Amino acid sequence: MATHDQLNTGTVSVRDLHRSFDGTTDILAGVDLDIRPGEFVALLGRSGSGKSTLLRALAGLDGDVAGRGVVEVPDRVSVVFQDSRLVPWLRIADNVSFGLPSGAATRARGRDALAEVGLTGRERAWPVELSGGEQQRAALARALVREPELLLADEPFGALDALTKIRMHGLLRDLVAQHRPSVLMITHDVDEALALADRVVVLTDGRLSCQHVTAGQDVDDLRRRLLGELGVEVVA
Ligand SMILES: Nc1ncnc2c1ncn2[C@@H]1O[C@H](COP(=O)(O)OP(=O)(O)OP(=O)(O)O)[C@@H](O)[C@H]1O
Ligand SMILES: [Mg+2]
Repeated sequence: MATHDQLNTGTVSVRDLHRSFDGTTDILAGVDLDIRPGEFVALLGRSGSGKSTLLRALAGLDGDVAGRGVVEVPDRVSVVFQDSRLVPWLRIADNVSFGLPSGAATRARGRDALAEVGLTGRERAWPVELSGGEQQRAALARALVREPELLLADEPFGALDALTKIRMHGLLRDLVAQHRPSVLMITHDVDEALALADRVVVLTDGRLSCQHVTAGQDVDDLRRRLLGELGVEVVA
């Protein structure tokens, strides 16, 4: 059985992680992954390759899935998904502070978090009154108000239009610089990965098939190599 230990830093350590839904095929077949405190890692892979399965294992959201291996994550982990998953019957401020002890200190932290994502003045709005991009910003505020040591994001901008996406990249970069969580972000978008991540990893056949540090790399060359890993031929 897999162990799921907690470390008190932003460090993530995954060793020989296996996950199977049908008891025969390993969707994850020996994943090894280390994330250093404050490091931003982007996870790419074809649809169905097991990216969300890996993220759920790190989030501890896969208790009933068969598997083995070692997953060590920090104490405070926040997760952001493609849809904001705001609670429809709670106002934005209450969504952001949901699950935290009630009181003036929590309300102040929630207000600060909403200000950080540019949603000052929308505290009393209902989720349905926000645009898709605003809802994702509220979801980011909800994640960050918990001061996570690890932020897990599963295609957080996948449902947004191109322009909003670019704005969100800037926002996420600023928030990460401010709060310094370690980050594992799943994306289908190679350019998004290259724009945001310190390191890009690709999940293929249940394992991380390659890892590329982005700093100091020729972006065009790295983009071509990553697309190649994903099975996309680039004709120059
Ligand atoms: N709860 C589940 N029960 C059974 N099979 C599942 C379950 N969750 C995922 N799978 C299967 O495991 C495989 C990996 O799924 P996963 O959601 O991890 O892929 P992914 O890489 O995130 O794909 P996408 O890019 O489309 O989101 C898929 O074949 C999927 O059908
Ligand atoms: Mg997925």
